[in-house]
Amino acid sequence: MPNIAIIGSQWGDEGKGKIVDWLSEKADVIVRFQGGHNAGHTLVVNNITYKLKLLPSGIIRKNKISIIGNGVVIDPWALLEEIKQLEKLGIKITNKNLFIAENATLILPPHKELDAIREDSKNTDKIGTTRRGIGPAYEDKVGRRAIRLMDLANKKNLSKKINMMLFHHDSIRKGLKKNKINKKKLIKDLVKISSKILKYSKPVWKKLEEFKKKKKKILFEGAQGILLDIDHGTYPFVTSSNTVVGSALSGTGCGPKTINYILGIVKAYTTRVGEGPFPTELKNELGNRIGKRGNEFGTVTNRKRRCGWFDAVLVKQSCIISGINGIALTKIDVLDHFKDIYVCVGYKLNGKKINYFPSSLNDQFKVKPIYKRFKGWLKNTKGIKKWNDLPTNAKKYINFIKSYCNVKISSVSTSPKREDTILLQNPFKG
Ligand code: IMP
Repeated sequence: MPNIAIIGSQWGDEGKGKIVDWLSEKADVIVRFQGGHNAGHTLVVNNITYKLKLLPSGIIRKNKISIIGNGVVIDPWALLEEIKQLEKLGIKITNKNLFIAENATLILPPHKELDAIREDSKNTDKIGTTRRGIGPAYEDKVGRRAIRLMDLANKKNLSKKINMMLFHHDSIRKGLKKNKINKKKLIKDLVKISSKILKYSKPVWKKLEEFKKKKKKILFEGAQGILLDIDHGTYPFVTSSNTVVGSALSGTGCGPKTINYILGIVKAYTTRVGEGPFPTELKNELGNRIGKRGNEFGTVTNRKRRCGWFDAVLVKQSCIISGINGIALTKIDVLDHFKDIYVCVGYKLNGKKINYFPSSLNDQFKVKPIYKRFKGWLKNTKGIKKWNDLPTNAKKYINFIKSYCNVKISSVSTSPKREDTILLQNPFKG
């Protein structure tokens, strides 16, 4: 089996959980490489529901190695809480099945606080973040003042490093008329949990090299989606990491030949949570209907997701940017009872037609979708497992997505249940 990367190819929440669950059963090593506990994967295995935020999906299966790469930002308290909750469900997590990159950046309470202060401020644009401190932690990483997992091992150095970080945070807080961070308490709290988390600390790049040599099957599990990428997404309404496939390499320490198949997860319509441009958004009854049928509420923050028609321009762009080899199309059954279904195939910008999503935020807000109308199939597709059993109009819709995006359709998902999947091209077979 080739090594596979799974990449959300819209604004996240494409239904990765089900696909990751299916693939993680067949993989030996499952790796998270970017983002943090802003992600949310719900897995149902043997009728038990597991809600994962930070831990790779492999953690709930026996005999799998789960890895959190250096590209992930880790809130140690959130991680320990997630471990505790899973242990309550009977999952065994030890330093034999969970490895965390020693050079991964930590999210600390000042990051979370700053995230919330900015979101609540009237003076900055509200991004609609998950308020988990993700952005401020990545800022400290590139600002070279972050605390990394391995820093917890050396108390003396930790104090020096925290000084550097707090020099920055306290100066911001002074401007915001907030009190200084209590350094003593921060260190005390970190020292208290350090042994609980340091036991998982490893040079992850080295471990991955060993697994590769042993021909272990590696699954790279992306979080969020390409349109939330810090460079390629709807900046500044994005998350603070690169969500494209390149991140799987830099976020773990692997070379580009490590990944043989890139699977893009794409929902049959479009959703996004948080603020920012969304050309095909339906702010009307139709949008509400899609949201209700698709149960579009965030797994992490429980926010109602904004809903709209499928934007083929955006998905094609995502496929190019991330080198997608195959699309796993999810939630086709949500569109079962719409008389007409629309797909965005271009935009109008200042009276001109364009066939790509511009980078300027102003233009992203301005573009007007050009739609192609499809006749709905008005039949149940829920639970269908064979391509030939799909209604003709559903096949036409899916085939259009394939030809417009110029990417094969690897699978079509017809319900949240794992078995309700039409498999067209098995990523394991390349
Ligand atoms: P942050 O990642 O918490 O900084 O949030 C930045 C933006 O990314 C906001 O619009 C969030 O709603 C969005 N976001 C972050 N994680 C996810 C996710 O897992 N699914 C969908 N949107 C997300």
